[in-house]
Amino acid sequence: MELSRKAKRIAPSPTLSLAAKVRELKKQGKKVISFTAGEPDLDTPLPIKEAAKKALDDGFTKYTPTTGIPELKERIVRKLKEENHLEYEAREIIVSPGAKFVIFNALFALLEEGDEVLLPSPYWVSYPEQIRMAGGKPLIVETKEEDGFKLQIEDLERMKGDRTRLLILNSPSNPVGVVYKREELAQIGEWCVANDIFVISDEIYEKMVYDVEHISIATFPGMKERTLVVNGMSKTYSMTGWRIGYGAGPKELIEIMGRIQDHTTSNPTSFAQIGALRALELVDEVKDMVDIFRRRREILLEELNKIPNISCVPPQGTFYAFPNVSYYMEKMGADSTDELASYLLEEAGVAVVPGEGFGAKGYVRLSFAVSEDDIREGLARMRDALLAL
Ligand SMILES: Cc1ncc(COP(=O)(O)O)c(C=O)c1O
Repeated sequence: MELSRKAKRIAPSPTLSLAAKVRELKKQGKKVISFTAGEPDLDTPLPIKEAAKKALDDGFTKYTPTTGIPELKERIVRKLKEENHLEYEAREIIVSPGAKFVIFNALFALLEEGDEVLLPSPYWVSYPEQIRMAGGKPLIVETKEEDGFKLQIEDLERMKGDRTRLLILNSPSNPVGVVYKREELAQIGEWCVANDIFVISDEIYEKMVYDVEHISIATFPGMKERTLVVNGMSKTYSMTGWRIGYGAGPKELIEIMGRIQDHTTSNPTSFAQIGALRALELVDEVKDMVDIFRRRREILLEELNKIPNISCVPPQGTFYAFPNVSYYMEKMGADSTDELASYLLEEAGVAVVPGEGFGAKGYVRLSFAVSEDDIREGLARMRDALLAL
């Protein structure tokens, strides 16, 4: 069997392979504290499950319209209006099996072979792979710790070439937890309008913000017609396994994405859409979850502070922190953060995700979708292991 060149170019997901390693160690009876989770550790709220169960009992088990049931699209229109101050029509909405597929679908719809996509690093691991799969070329725009990992206009300017068509913006960002402010978004928006750049704005962590406001870049002048807003149920409602995400954007783009979906996944799962419809009504459950994450974030930052020679830009959103561990890498003579992560796993039974997969060597991602006790114990173990170097 000969595998295609385009398939062989796809890198394995560093987060998923690490989770497998942790499972293996746990099976051997080792107590591993894992900071690798990319999903809330809480269960899907009961009303969502009940709505989906009822849909199953009612026989809502067949194909639905490819881009989602009309009630759900209408509800998303209302959500975007009330919460994000964005006015869309239902035909400008697509519901897909996860935000991940919305992004892939959009890249497939928008990129010609060789077109370039501006991608701020540190980035979510799937973006560069998806860009390449869709025939594009990621143009990595490095952001710096001293700038709070925020995109600088002069770097966009420097990186942009004749074939640069898109920017992927992720605020709040995985893995850093960066949340862009109003004036920063206004500047980026202005630059995109001036340079005819279309934006894929991944807003999946919008509700997980700590004392800052989430604003969509699509709300700035001239931006709605050049933005695809991406969001989904996975993080906000602990529904990662349900696979419901959505996009809102110009109708020509949404129509083409609908055609791509017609011939690939077809509709997102029928009864999961009913669950999503119910989820969008929930307020208290989300607030409670965010409060839990807020407390854990405090504890994590407090414990990280106890480890000398580690710096960390405090995350303003998401449930991740991205500390700089380069001092300890140097101490152990490690060439890659993977080596440090392996040392922590073997010596301390602590799993962290090395930064290379996010385009940032010398950093590790710690998820605080972990109990308070585990955060305390895991970071104490990490401290001991690092100080022993
Ligand atoms: C930034 C970002 N976008 C999108 C996704 C994927 O979300 P979904 O489960 O809706 O495909 C994730 C999940 O880890 C993510 O971190």
